[in-house]
Amino acid sequence: MMHPSLQVEIACQSDWFHCIDLGGGICTPGSDGDHSRRKLDMMKMPESLQGKRVLDVGCCEGFFSFDAERRGADRVLAVDTRPAALVRLDICRRALKSKVESLQLNVYDFDAKTMGTFDVVLFLAVFHHLRYPFLALDKLASITSGSLLIEVVEAVPLVPAEDALLVRRGGDRGQFKLLPTRSMILLMLQNAGFGATEILGVHRRKPADPSKQLFSYEQQRVVIRATKNV
Ligand SMILES: C[S@@+](CC[C@H](N)C(=O)[O-])C[C@H]1O[C@@H](n2cnc3c(N)ncnc32)[C@H](O)[C@@H]1O
Repeated sequence: MMHPSLQVEIACQSDWFHCIDLGGGICTPGSDGDHSRRKLDMMKMPESLQGKRVLDVGCCEGFFSFDAERRGADRVLAVDTRPAALVRLDICRRALKSKVESLQLNVYDFDAKTMGTFDVVLFLAVFHHLRYPFLALDKLASITSGSLLIEVVEAVPLVPAEDALLVRRGGDRGQFKLLPTRSMILLMLQNAGFGATEILGVHRRKPADPSKQLFSYEQQRVVIRATKNV
């Protein structure tokens, strides 16, 4: 079935990141390709999320929020700092007749008194954008009552290295980007109040890049389930 107005709405927006199947043969033209689907497989989400409240932080167009809704979550809240991402999410929400809620919100502004707490919190591919990673993890811990699923770009040292939080420049807007080692990110999670951690998988391995002064580190993304201390 054709949905000409939906196709026009999609075409009027730029910078689509997720590929979301909206039915009727229409998929959003995300630059992320298959990555989200593969990440979702790695996350081993329960078949049913009935009775659970899910928060998707840095949701972009909401691929993972809509998946949580399909799994029967009681409430799904999708938040992002960028209004344009939430406009694109809204197009998907209407097409899917979804009840996912959305809000323009920065992780640094989380407050359990106003937001409540969530059984499952998703923080996927946001960590490396952060300027204040310790503050973000504290804020995430404050609104998590169950588990946090976090994806982090990690440094894989080619030679034995000290545990360090590496900071590098080199984003396309000249911003700092964070590149922790595995042991550092696990320590940071523990320090924020997440007692147990489980590595769910790694993907998108990249070789060392001498042009960015990263000649002794490879990079990859690790997906971790971190359980909040009670
Ligand atoms: C690379 S996308 C990841 C989208 C999705 N989570 C995924 O894994 O496919 C990162 C998203 O995080 C959002 N973001 C960056 N910093 C944020 C912050 N401090 N608080 C909330 N969202 C943030 C960006 O606007 C962007 O939409």
